[in-house]
Amino acid sequence: MSSTTAAAASGMQIYRRLLSYTAAYRAQLGLALLGMVLYAGSATAFAALMKPMLDGSFVDRDSESIVWVPIMIVVVFLLRGIGGFCSTYYMAWIGWQIVKRIRRQLFDKYLGLPSAHFDTASSGEMISRVTFNVRNISVVAADCLTVLVRDTLTIVGLLGLMIYHSWKLSLGFIVLGPIVALIVRFVSKRFRRLSRGIQDSMAQVASVIEEVVNGQRLVKVFGGQQYEREHFDAVNERNRVLNVKETATRAGSSPLIQFLVALALAIIVYLASSGVLVGEVTVGVFMSFITAMMMLFAPLKQLTNVNAKIQAGVAAGENVFAILDVESERDDGQNSLETDRIAVKFDRVQFEYQPGVPVLRDISFAVDSGEVVALVGGSGSGKSTIANLLPRLYDTTGGVVSINGQDVRDYTLASLRHHISYVGQDVTLFNDTVQANIAYGDMRDLPFEKIREACEIANADEFIRGLRDGYETVVGENGVMLSGGQRQRLAIARAILKDAPLLILDEATSALDTESERSVQQGLLELMKNRTTVVIAHRLTTIENADRIVVMDQGRIVEAGSHAQLLGRGGHYAVLHGSVLNAES
Ligand SMILES: Nc1ncnc2c1ncn2[C@@H]1O[C@H](COP(=O)(O)OP(=O)(O)OP(=O)(O)O)[C@@H](O)[C@H]1O
Ligand SMILES: [Mg+2]
Repeated sequence: MSSTTAAAASGMQIYRRLLSYTAAYRAQLGLALLGMVLYAGSATAFAALMKPMLDGSFVDRDSESIVWVPIMIVVVFLLRGIGGFCSTYYMAWIGWQIVKRIRRQLFDKYLGLPSAHFDTASSGEMISRVTFNVRNISVVAADCLTVLVRDTLTIVGLLGLMIYHSWKLSLGFIVLGPIVALIVRFVSKRFRRLSRGIQDSMAQVASVIEEVVNGQRLVKVFGGQQYEREHFDAVNERNRVLNVKETATRAGSSPLIQFLVALALAIIVYLASSGVLVGEVTVGVFMSFITAMMMLFAPLKQLTNVNAKIQAGVAAGENVFAILDVESERDDGQNSLETDRIAVKFDRVQFEYQPGVPVLRDISFAVDSGEVVALVGGSGSGKSTIANLLPRLYDTTGGVVSINGQDVRDYTLASLRHHISYVGQDVTLFNDTVQANIAYGDMRDLPFEKIREACEIANADEFIRGLRDGYETVVGENGVMLSGGQRQRLAIARAILKDAPLLILDEATSALDTESERSVQQGLLELMKNRTTVVIAHRLTTIENADRIVVMDQGRIVEAGSHAQLLGRGGHYAVLHGSVLNAES
């Protein structure tokens, strides 16, 4: 954390940035402000009415006052009602527009954040930022503005009236100003700190829930209930404590300020009635003065309470803007990749996920257009990482990955990714129909016949038609209603349907039995014929037919060649082959 002054400065900056969201809604803001002025004006007018009511109607029995004072009371409250409605309605309207806009901005941001960001982010926090934090922001930008403007205007109006009536009496009240300011300043800091904590703890609550919901099977089988319960209790309790503290601060600061006002009131009443000011004020003026003062309580209370909301909003703004300001995936390539033949080259590629922990060292190999290259090697040797570099899920930290002779960073991300089809090691399915999962993204509008065809090649058509609703079956979150092998075949069908010139298969058939693997393999072989393929597999049967096999060990390439060459050499591959064959038999 930075120093207090820097924090205060950035607090102002954040506040200003929050307010800037209202700029797009000038018309509504204007109406709301008009409402606020009406509202504040009517409060002052009501207090002012006390004078003619008492001095005119009651003391002097002035016939004119007797008629128009009651009429004015009705008019004043009518205006107050209209003003109150307009300010509340339009500010809420603006507030929800802002919620919608910031949520959309965050969502867009999430879609474009670099993969590395997701490696360290908690999904609970990512979700609660959009659902919970954003709401606090809109409160600042809208509700708080209402209170600030409306109640400040009311206070100014009432104080003005008081000074107009008797500046001497008002004096006692005005010295309160600095004291109130000091109190507000003190509690502000506390509010902000508590709000940050509340926000964090909401994220933690969301996180724990999310883990339990996603990992419910594991929790059950490994008896994790007690552990998760304790974990949840801890974050839940923290959330409660922080919220209670916040309420205590708020509940304590308002009465304190009101007490100060009452103190001033007492002094003024004493001064006015004890004769010090006798002759200077009439009964009507005094009543009007006291009414104005009494009416000050409510807006003052609002103003002190609004502070808590502002601080919560600033804390939320801090958290939201921090993400909005994160740099998105770099996409500054100018060239659009347009081709149906792709040649890949890795040239002395280095890569590290975390600085100082090299995962790939000096990787050089090439895949010519139409070639099939297989990557093999022990677990953790860096195979999937190589696959990640092609669609630029991550960028190299040294060396160059090129496609058709040009650095992949020179292409626009969209055109690059458009040319790559990919079956990942972990299958990702959305909670949608089978058909929507296969014809995902750009492929949504492809004709059903194409989808069927892809499923046939992936050996998936048969089981899909056996599902309750066939292609319309909803597969559940990440496809929980399907078997591992069925999920994998959907992922393969999706990759086939994309029909891209570069195909990456990372353990694409690992969950299939030998029977279905063979039949999928047949389809894939057909598919690989006229495209460039990088295939990663543990099961060596999958890769024996590759044009070239690249053998990895601890982030380096240790061998490369055809199946026969590598076996003949009796090196790493031969050992791997031997061991895997043994394991499989
Ligand atoms: N997102 C990540 N952040 C940090 N380190 C990572 C990340 N993904 C992988 N690693 C590390 O990089 C190394 C290579 O991982 P990679 O996934 O490329 O291995 P692999 O060869 O595909 O292994 P497997 O055969 O088990 O899939 C591993 O040591 C792993 O711990
Ligand atoms: Mg892997």
